[in-house]
Amino acid sequence: MSLLVARNMVGGYGEADILHGVNLTVAPGQVVVIIGPNGAGKSTAMKAVAGLVRLKPGSSVMFDGTEIANAPAESMVARGLAYVPQERNVFPSLSVEENLLMGAYARPSAAKDGLERSYAVFPDLAAKRRAAAGSLSGGQRQMVAVARALMLTPKLIMLDEPTAGLSPKFCTLIFDKVREIAASGIAVLMVEQNARPALAIADRGVVLAMGRNRAEDTGPGLLANPEIGHLFLGGNAPEEDAA
Ligand SMILES: Nc1ncnc2c1ncn2[C@@H]1O[C@H](COP(=O)(O)OP(=O)(O)O)[C@@H](O)[C@H]1O
Ligand SMILES: [Mg+2]
Repeated sequence: MSLLVARNMVGGYGEADILHGVNLTVAPGQVVVIIGPNGAGKSTAMKAVAGLVRLKPGSSVMFDGTEIANAPAESMVARGLAYVPQERNVFPSLSVEENLLMGAYARPSAAKDGLERSYAVFPDLAAKRRAAAGSLSGGQRQMVAVARALMLTPKLIMLDEPTAGLSPKFCTLIFDKVREIAASGIAVLMVEQNARPALAIADRGVVLAMGRNRAEDTGPGLLANPEIGHLFLGGNAPEEDAA
């Protein structure tokens, strides 16, 4: 059964709609990757699910059997929905551990278990628990943001461009961690500009363009689709180039 079923999401930031009927479905343990050009509405679609963008009547966001369209953003963590925005929201002057603890503010009694789980996924952070987050590399800061979202064992974690600006080494690491998180039963919905490697680890890929679903398939299916390759993946598939 699906955990998240967003249907016909219509809305935006003011009068003009940015989303013109976006659909998103994610099942537990599944990695779903959203790709598409700049300005397509990928971040807006995630914010809409997270309660940060107003949706118009007729839009539906079913999460774990409950309609949550336009529910207050502050209610999402308690529902089991964690969101890591594109703009980094790590507090640089706080330590790694203090940053992680902020992820458990809604349920302080769960903080100790949360830290254990987050450090189990990101052992490098355990070694740096007392370091100021601002002293970390971009890749490590991104791990802090993801680890914080894991503090209250979410059912769904939404990551907006988690590998933006990271070295290929850290991209691989983040994608490995995403698969590991999904293997633990958590659903992952991820926006990515590094479209090819992201689709390579995705169960499903969704192409958004101009606020609408443009295509959807398995990750490998989208990668093998020549039209998608030309329009959205920056040219030929690697095997086509080799041919
Ligand atoms: N806070 C905002 N206020 C008004 N317009 C916005 C805001 N954020 C994004 N937009 C507009 O919404 C459209 C979609 O943006 P976005 O969802 O960020 O695209 P993507 O993540 O696919 O690059 C763009 O035209 C962008 O300018
Ligand atoms: Mg974006």
